[in-house]
Amino acid sequence: MLSRLNHVAIAVPDLSAASAHYRDALGANVSAPQDLPEHGVTVVFVELGNTKIELLHPFGERSPIQGFLDKNPGGGMHHVCFEVADIKAARDKLKAEGKRVVGDGEPKIGAHGKPVLFLHPKDFSGTLIELEEV
Ligand code: CO
Repeated sequence: MLSRLNHVAIAVPDLSAASAHYRDALGANVSAPQDLPEHGVTVVFVELGNTKIELLHPFGERSPIQGFLDKNPGGGMHHVCFEVADIKAARDKLKAEGKRVVGDGEPKIGAHGKPVLFLHPKDFSGTLIELEEV
């Protein structure tokens, strides 16, 4: 079902400090910050050869990552995103195995303009998993 690791998302309390860690200390190729108001986040992409890191910071009053940062004020890994060829087929198989999809179960258009779903971390050893159809 899974193919590439599309990205690892890290929620950070200070986006410019986190960008500097990757750009200056680690020598990575780091994008400018992009506000994604419809997702309630500002994101910086760290481009790697085989995948990317997304640094997430809350945007607006009702950001979906604010609660995570309240619990993890220093920041931390928020989710991992795997690519799938057919997101509805993947969802149906996972639901048949008793795995929970976050929200109403319907794929939404994610930060990259492609359909995504999130799987409940309690069903995956404490890790929030995003599936993205590519
Ligand atoms: Co993501």
